[in-house]
Amino acid sequence: MGNRLDLLSREYLESPHAHLTELRRRGPVVQVDPGGMWLVTRYEEAQQVLKSASLFSSQGLRASAQPAWLQRVNPFADSLLFLDPPQHGRLRALVSRAFAPAALARLEARIRGVAREHVAGMMNQKNVDFVDAFAMPIPATVMGWLLGLDASLHQRFNRWANDLVTMSGVRPEDTGAMARYHQTLEEMERYFQGVLDDRRDAPRDDMASDLLRAQVEGEALTNHELLSFLYLLLVAGLETTVNLLNQCALVFSQHPELLLRLREDPALIPRFIEETLRYEPSVMATLRLCTQDVTLAGVELPRGALVLVSLASANRDEKYFPDGDRFILEREGPQRLSFGHGPHFCMGAMLSRLEARVALEEFVSRVERLELRTDHLDWTTALLVRGPVTLPVEVFAPESGQPVTARIA
Ligand code: HEM
Repeated sequence: MGNRLDLLSREYLESPHAHLTELRRRGPVVQVDPGGMWLVTRYEEAQQVLKSASLFSSQGLRASAQPAWLQRVNPFADSLLFLDPPQHGRLRALVSRAFAPAALARLEARIRGVAREHVAGMMNQKNVDFVDAFAMPIPATVMGWLLGLDASLHQRFNRWANDLVTMSGVRPEDTGAMARYHQTLEEMERYFQGVLDDRRDAPRDDMASDLLRAQVEGEALTNHELLSFLYLLLVAGLETTVNLLNQCALVFSQHPELLLRLREDPALIPRFIEETLRYEPSVMATLRLCTQDVTLAGVELPRGALVLVSLASANRDEKYFPDGDRFILEREGPQRLSFGHGPHFCMGAMLSRLEARVALEEFVSRVERLELRTDHLDWTTALLVRGPVTLPVEVFAPESGQPVTARIA
């Protein structure tokens, strides 16, 4: 490993954890590329940065959504994810109702129906791309319901969300990718503007209509703020949960005995989800910007420095997660940082846990074994999120072919 590791290099993207272990050994705050940003590798320092918005601003994250080469406004880059208190808190309150436990409980039966249908589809085909057959359609359908979008446009939503989170990985010479991102933003704007115009004329029971009615300090949201919300929720709610499900499938392929244990005892599924989130978090890192000169763990960071908080590394910090490179279903330990920490803590944490639990309950009730059908996986090229581009697998039903649904209903 050279002196400064490039987090967009192929060697890092293919096996980040070995590199992160080495970086943690070097110290809690180490300089990396691209751009000589500072990587926070350990749990305590990661928490410290994430809860101190006045020293470490979320404007740092904005650079990933509004790169210099992008010659147009990206409404996503103006969403609450990139704002600091107090402006952040006022906007956050507007959407929190939609994620309240009662609202989520009403979704469970519908999610189960969709998951059941996709497990059945997978069992019919046997050899599938897991991303396309299972991991993507469930969260895409749920986000479609919540936002009031046309669920039949799954593939398109997924491409949009994927494009928005991979923008940070574009190399300066890759003009083809830049043109594609421009086109994506135009398509998204046309589509979401249409949704807002429709709901202005005929409100429905969805978030787009709620947001149109919402007021901050007596004023309605501007059209740009409305678009920003819709972009954020689509991106935050899709790619992340898709990759959580992908990672669950990868764990099943590496540890077939765990799939059998979950079939025996589906009550272990929430534990399995928590350990998967720790072991392979779909949001690998988040960015902050130093608002003033600051010393972090003895390292002097100048005002304006970019700080990349590695959630993946903090989740394997030896001090809190001994033997962190092992997947241990019974693992205890402090709260994982997979959903962040502090004022920007993920608003969809309960929703994604619900989606994953119901999806896996349906999955383990019908599938006894899942095998990977490739020797090599391609991973998304992005600084902040991680997931396989495709996941060719073969799924096997138990000999008897009998689902074990009785224990779950
Ligand atoms: C496995 C699934 C998910 C993971 C790992 C995840 C992870 C995260 C993380 C790490 C943050 C904090 C980013 C930061 O501090 O800069 C975040 C924020 C956020 N997430 Fe999630 N997320 C997931 C699913 C979802 C879902 C399903 C939704 C909604 C439908 C959602 C909505 C949000 C929103 C709105 C924020 C911004 C909160 C704020 O800025 O105050 N997330 N998420």
